[in-house]
Amino acid sequence: MKLFLIGFMGAGKSYWGKQLAGHFGLPYFDLDEVIVEREDMSVADIFSEKGEEYFRTLEGEVLRELTLSNDAFLISCGGGTPCFSDAMDFMNANGITIWLNPSVPVIVERLQRKQYKRPLIQDLSQEDLTAFTEKKLAERQPFYEQSQIIISDDEVSLETFDKLIRNA
Ligand code: S3P
Repeated sequence: MKLFLIGFMGAGKSYWGKQLAGHFGLPYFDLDEVIVEREDMSVADIFSEKGEEYFRTLEGEVLRELTLSNDAFLISCGGGTPCFSDAMDFMNANGITIWLNPSVPVIVERLQRKQYKRPLIQDLSQEDLTAFTEKKLAERQPFYEQSQIIISDDEVSLETFDKLIRNA
C-alpha cells in the first residue's frame, strides 16, 4: 500500500501520518524531514539561503525517488508538495492520496504554535495568518481536491481513516 497524506500546513499530516503508518504497518516518511536530512539544513534555512524554487525542485525529486524506490509506505507531504511539478497526477498514479482538510480556525490555532519553523508564515501576526491561510488555501484547493480521499472534519478518528482507505 502506498499512501500520500496531503494538506495545508497545520492540517495534522505529521500526527496522523505516524498514526496511520503504525496502524497499517507501513514505513513512514516525512518529506520535509527527508529533505532536511539530505541537505543538512532546516527548511527555513533552505528557503532563506537557497530560495523557494530550489526547495520546490528538491521536494518534487525526493517525492518521486521515495515513491519509486519503496514498495509500501506512508508519505506525509509538505503543504505545498501537491501544487508543484505535476505532483498530484504523479501521486494519484502511484498510490492513494488523502487530503486532510480541517477548518481555517483549527489550522491557524495549530500554526501559531509552530510558526517559527515555517518560512512562509514566520513573520505574520495572528490576523495576517488567518488572511494568509484563507488566501493560500483557496489557491491550493484545486490541487488538494484532486485527492482520492478527502477528510474535512475537525475531529477525525483512526476508524474513519481505516474505513475510507480500505474502500479506496
Ligand atoms: C510548506 C509547508 C511546510 C514545508 C515548507 C513549505 C508550504 O510543510 O514544506 O515550509 O508551502 O505549505 P508542512 O505542511 O509540514 O508545515
